[in-house]
Amino acid sequence: MADPGSRARRRERGRLEALVGVDLRPVAEGVLSRLVAAALEGASADEVTPPVTPGPGWSPERVEWLRAFHRDRRAGLDGPAGEVTWAVVEFAPGEDQDTGRVLGSVRLRRTGEPGGFETGIWLVRDARGRGVGTTAVRLLLERAREAGAATVRADTTTGNAGAVALLRALGFSTTVQGERVRAELTLG
Ligand SMILES: CC(C)(COP(=O)(O)OP(=O)(O)OC[C@H]1O[C@@H](n2cnc3c(N)ncnc32)[C@H](O)[C@@H]1OP(=O)(O)O)[C@@H](O)C(=O)NCCC(=O)NCCS
Repeated sequence: MADPGSRARRRERGRLEALVGVDLRPVAEGVLSRLVAAALEGASADEVTPPVTPGPGWSPERVEWLRAFHRDRRAGLDGPAGEVTWAVVEFAPGEDQDTGRVLGSVRLRRTGEPGGFETGIWLVRDARGRGVGTTAVRLLLERAREAGAATVRADTTTGNAGAVALLRALGFSTTVQGERVRAELTLG
């Protein structure tokens, strides 16, 4: 028999997607090309990748890191990386997976602690400040619940006012240590 809880969660997810026009989509190869193009055009390398090469700019190595990062996580939470990534896509009802504008990416990783997960997000500059991040993280939290998460953690810095505001608005409690902000949400 279908789990009524999971039906309710699917309804909630559908309601959110219809309401705000944002969807999370698997990063298949076609989506990955659009995600890399969006990152190069609309986000800084430091927002999207670790400092694989010196300097703040995009380099071929950083682009390759980004491609490999998403490809290596296609096996999802139960794969070798214990992590899954999605493209954040502007959603139009009826559009299929190969259409819609890629606005950024979210990821979800098992920390190794029972029920413990960790997340991260980036969006292109012109998508910021209009609620896309809030919606994407809400959708991500639904996926985390479905995966059995008890807590979801996000790490950021005091200088990242957008990330701190977003996480607090979604109910994460924050602990500040120097410049580091650790945000944690216990899922009910
Ligand atoms: C952080 C980020 C994901 C936020 O997404 P977003 O779509 O811009 O955020 P939203 O529009 O949903 O806003 C969420 C909240 O933050 C506030 N906010 C957004 N940008 C802000 C800023 N620069 N300064 C202060 N508050 C800000 C909004 O007012 C809103 O608060 P409210 O709910 O109380 O009104 C996005 O800015 C981003 O991709 N930044 C670069 C990468 C990054 O820093 N990732 C986070 C690492 S943890």
